[in-house]
Amino acid sequence: MNRTFVIAKPDAVERGLVGKIISRFEEKGLKLVAAELRQLSDETLAHHYAEHLERPFYPDLKAFMSRSPAMVMVLEGPEDTYAMVRSMMGATNPADSPPGTIRGDYGTEMTENLVHGSDSNESAAREIGIFFPGL
Ligand code: RTP
Ligand code: MG
Repeated sequence: MNRTFVIAKPDAVERGLVGKIISRFEEKGLKLVAAELRQLSDETLAHHYAEHLERPFYPDLKAFMSRSPAMVMVLEGPEDTYAMVRSMMGATNPADSPPGTIRGDYGTEMTENLVHGSDSNESAAREIGIFFPGL
């Protein structure tokens, strides 16, 4: 089996969409193997989003991701589960995401785009190690 890391971001928790988001993955056939509602620290976010630390949007991203708890989780499925999850999420900008995707159905804004999903098997392993060491 293959695992990937997903975050239902603070906007999803605030709007009461976590159940719907998890349901989509479960209905697809992916299995939830770990999940916790967690307040993300600046330190954890800097580790998780290391590739974006120097980007102009990072301060807004950090403020958003730490303003209230997020649901962090690990999903298990077939080979390249990360890619299946990413296609179900839609594009980074919800405006470019078609209906039927999570961002396309529930989002309108670039920063507040509801979900994070690892972008490769290597990213998945790295991110699971940050959020669920020992899993
Ligand atoms: P994620 O890492 O959260 O799954 O999203 P992603 O791969 O689709 O997009 P990425 O390029 O990794 O960007 C990470 C998150 O930063 C925010 N963002 N804002 N204002 C902007 O130009 C901008 N660009 C990115 C989004 O919340 C994006 O999901
Ligand atoms: Mg990304």
